[in-house]
Amino acid sequence: MNFYIGLDVGTSSVKAMLTDDSSIIGSVSRDYPLSFPNPGWSEQNPEDWLSESISAVEELTAGIDKSAVRAISFSGQMHGLVMLDKDDKPIRPAILWNDGRSEKQTAFLNNETGKEFLLEKTGNIAFAGFTAPKLLWVYENEPENFAKAERICLPKDYVAYMLSGVFATDTSDAAGTLYFDTANRCWSAEMLELLHINENKLPKVFESSEAVGCLKKEYAEKLGLSQDVKIVIGAGDNAASAIGTGTVNDGDCNISLGTSGTVFVCSDKFNCDKENAIHAFCSANGKYHYLACTLTAASSQKWWIEDILKADYGENIAAFEGRSDVLFLPYLMGERSPVNDTAVRGVFAGLSMNTKREEMTLAVLEGVAFSLKENIEIIKSLGVDISKSKICGGGTRNKFWVKLCADILGIDIEIPEFEHGGVLGACILAAKGCGNDISDAFYAVKETVHPDKAMNEFYEKKYERYLKLYPLAKELK
Ligand code: XUL
Repeated sequence: MNFYIGLDVGTSSVKAMLTDDSSIIGSVSRDYPLSFPNPGWSEQNPEDWLSESISAVEELTAGIDKSAVRAISFSGQMHGLVMLDKDDKPIRPAILWNDGRSEKQTAFLNNETGKEFLLEKTGNIAFAGFTAPKLLWVYENEPENFAKAERICLPKDYVAYMLSGVFATDTSDAAGTLYFDTANRCWSAEMLELLHINENKLPKVFESSEAVGCLKKEYAEKLGLSQDVKIVIGAGDNAASAIGTGTVNDGDCNISLGTSGTVFVCSDKFNCDKENAIHAFCSANGKYHYLACTLTAASSQKWWIEDILKADYGENIAAFEGRSDVLFLPYLMGERSPVNDTAVRGVFAGLSMNTKREEMTLAVLEGVAFSLKENIEIIKSLGVDISKSKICGGGTRNKFWVKLCADILGIDIEIPEFEHGGVLGACILAAKGCGNDISDAFYAVKETVHPDKAMNEFYEKKYERYLKLYPLAKELK
């Protein structure tokens, strides 16, 4: 008997999952706070990730034969800047992937350092969500904190470090820092120099399925687990979700409808988008992928239902089921892909005296799907054929939204038997780190949602109107 634990250190919660070699035994989740101390800022306390991870593992493993737990691995929210002092204490709250404070530093990197240099060294240009501009922000605005930093890492790497005592990261997450040479899978010396950091402050780089160490005595005792439990470093959440949904072959596509909405397309070879809209990152299976990120996906839905309608998110508020002219641009926190604009904000358009609440709900869901479509069109323009996609993430609980995605994208959407994405990917990586490939047991497709031809034609026209929103919204800043 073998048990594997996956931990998905997400933005709203940590999810923990337990599998054996062929099935999911259970999962639990623990929420933690997210703070927006200034408009466009987004922060979290790394110690919350750790304490809630521990508590989730305690609940998950209660009543099982703990001696059969072989490994723990991770899926992590990407790009977050975690800075630790000489005693391994967080120096300041982590600055997250959806934080837009580093507009000035992002512009400096893209315009002064230059996009060509960045592309050559890292395979990417600067986006405010990436780690490098945030490091520059701390350097410029909090020099005392910058000087105190002995270790600089990403969210899941902090939890892995605390549990194992080994300071490690993996290539998929490291690629999202903008100081990693994605093509060659190592830190970029030139970028580190530019950012005033020494490589000895950074974690050692591993591939996602590598065991970096074992559970520290302190945590083994606390959790009642063996000190032989391997800590397998895992992956950034999108790369882990790809492993969890079986998005592993050249050209395979996975959409994640989580807090963010992402489009992930596998590529056997490293390639980057010279137009700079789409990221080029390492995958958790030793290969590469294109990634595009819509910053507010399920979070747009949550904002609309909870903050505006003052309804209960669990109620799954009904959207208008029909054709509506109302449009929504989901740029509530600015936008990453493809516009790279931290200052733009969301827009409703096409409202009339007859507009119903349900049409506005529909527009929010459509707006996110249009944003995914725009990114998919760009990836297709790079010569990739996308005729179907897997889907995962919390937003998929709204089946109407999944159907809408099929109609708007005009492609088949495959719903995996296990829609858990990142956390399942983490369990599969944990097993891989023990030399066991358990993936086949989890890759069945539960249902394929086909696009409706007439609705797709309607949405092609509506998409043309959607594309006109950003140039207008940009002028409203
Ligand atoms: C990807 C990205 C988000 C976060 C969400 O580039 O920023 O998908 O990883 O956790």
